[in-house]
Amino acid sequence: MRAIRGSRQDSSALREENAKAPRIPDFGRRIRELFQPYRNRLILTVALVLVTAALTVVPPLLTQQAFDQGLFPKGGPNLSRLLQVVGGMVGIYVVSQLLGVAQTYLTATIGNGVTASLRERLFSRLEEMELGFFTRTRTGVIQSRLANDVGGVANVLSTTVSSVVGNTVTVIAAFVAMFLLSWQLALIAIVLLPLLAVVQRSVGQRRARIATKVQESLSELSAITQEALSVSGILLSKAFTRQRQETARYTAESTRQLQLQVRQEMSGQGFFATVQIFLLIVPAIVYLVAGLLLSNGVAITAGTIVAFTTVQARLTWPLMGLLRVALDLQTSSALFARIFEYLDLKPAIADRADAVPVPPGHAVGRVEFDRVGFAYPGGPGQEPVEILRDVSFSVEPGASVALVGPSGAGKTTIGYLVPRLYDATSGSVRFGGIDVKRLQQESLLSSIGIVSQETYLFHATIRDNLRYAKPDATDEEIRAAAVGANLHETIERFPDGYETVVGERGYRLSGGEKQRIAIARVLLKNPPVVILDEATSALDTMSERVVQEALDAASAGRTTIAIAHRLSTVVDSDEILVVDGGRIVERGTHPELLRLDGLYARLAAEQSAEAEESLSA
Ligand SMILES: Nc1ncnc2c1ncn2[C@@H]1O[C@H](COP(=O)(O)OP(=O)(O)OP(=O)(O)O)[C@@H](O)[C@H]1O
Ligand SMILES: [Mg+2]
Repeated sequence: MRAIRGSRQDSSALREENAKAPRIPDFGRRIRELFQPYRNRLILTVALVLVTAALTVVPPLLTQQAFDQGLFPKGGPNLSRLLQVVGGMVGIYVVSQLLGVAQTYLTATIGNGVTASLRERLFSRLEEMELGFFTRTRTGVIQSRLANDVGGVANVLSTTVSSVVGNTVTVIAAFVAMFLLSWQLALIAIVLLPLLAVVQRSVGQRRARIATKVQESLSELSAITQEALSVSGILLSKAFTRQRQETARYTAESTRQLQLQVRQEMSGQGFFATVQIFLLIVPAIVYLVAGLLLSNGVAITAGTIVAFTTVQARLTWPLMGLLRVALDLQTSSALFARIFEYLDLKPAIADRADAVPVPPGHAVGRVEFDRVGFAYPGGPGQEPVEILRDVSFSVEPGASVALVGPSGAGKTTIGYLVPRLYDATSGSVRFGGIDVKRLQQESLLSSIGIVSQETYLFHATIRDNLRYAKPDATDEEIRAAAVGANLHETIERFPDGYETVVGERGYRLSGGEKQRIAIARVLLKNPPVVILDEATSALDTMSERVVQEALDAASAGRTTIAIAHRLSTVVDSDEILVVDGGRIVERGTHPELLRLDGLYARLAAEQSAEAEESLSA
């Protein structure tokens, strides 16, 4: 997991480390597995390629016959023989082109099919990853693996299959034809092959190393884009007039990308040029050698020499093609390694083999914390920081508990442990009497409604955003939920009503409106337990009341864990837990806590003083 980057500051140090392609065991087997579903098509492709290749051997032999039997036989041209030979040539070219089309279709479906399945598997693996993975990995970096790495292998995959088989066969066939024509001349062409293979390998390895860097840089580019060119990113950069620096940051990475791309393309060009020069001068050498052979009494016809050089010329492209494909494959192995690395991620939170669904019955709404301790997993090389210690409490079905306390005390964190967004480090969290680690996550999550401090909305209509909570909800149900969340009248005032598109992440809506959307979603979902992590401190008294009414609707008849900043909102809770420094320091009802005259009483006094100040101001 070393490619997963924690923060921006350490990125340059990590980047060098990342430039090594991750090592993936069983690499070959896994590539073969990817192609497994396409076995029949692959076999068919290979068969087609073989036929096409076999056909390519024929025309040069026909050329020899055209010269030696049609054009210049002893006793003048033989037109009927020439016609046969020419007819044969035309027929073969037509057939091989048709086969070529079929072959392209097959390889396109195989290559793109493998790419699509890689993409889909990667996405579904990422969907399974725990929340923590996403808090420590930059979104752009994740997106880049899906887009750039998979996209990169797609190019190679869709051309490789036919190219490898086709070119190998053509090269072999060409050599066979050359030997058939004249073994002495064929030897000239064959001597350089082993040399090519050796040089090719080292060029390929260098390219793979550069490719890894190219992909790293691409993911950096995509992370910058994703961070800077979002609504929040633009707001931030404008607020601090950092646009120029953002552009500079992007330009710097883009320049690096440019240099890497050029380096990648240029690596091996010298090698290719040498190979090509050699292949191009072979005909000249052949004339020379043929001359030598002729003057030494070896019989070689003009037809043989012409045919031989034709075959040899035709060898150039397949041979170059093979060398290039070999290079591409080595390059793409770097991308495959990056893809496999993500496919091999193990979700830290997953169902146990014997996981059970939340049992139905009246105990469903009971939530218990039993001496729970928790630490967020630290980044690479960092110690985990202990956040919660010895947290114990329980909420009966339908009852409500409120968590209050200073900022950073660990209230949101306690809320995360109930739906198992994180796992408790010690002690146990029980839901309906069963440890959440023994429950099926899907069943657990569908029993809990969450209104988080930050509401996420999709760039879609209000109706669609609400329906996300219950895909089969009728328009009436959606309306009822909006009414319950005190949102209906607000929506009706928009010109497009429920069809209003909320904009990227819901920027079209105010903070209070977004929060009420979240509440309406919970009402639609109708779970037995709700966790309300309020952000009402950000709202004025008027909107606070509106939101509070909505929150009351959400908690009615449900087990409620309410995290509150304004103590006025929790006075009616069955129990109030005061959290400070990751511990529950006081507990009781509102009057009890006031009488205790501790932290709660102090917070309450501060807040009422503030309220009076703002009234008199
Ligand atoms: N993903 C994380 N990784 C590491 N530490 C975290 C993470 N999320 C929160 N923390 C730390 O855990 C502590 C508790 O955070 P938490 O969000 O639970 O506080 P809170 O009581 O909800 O605060 P607030 O009232 O401001 O919302 C904080 O010190 C915070 O810095
Ligand atoms: Mg919080």
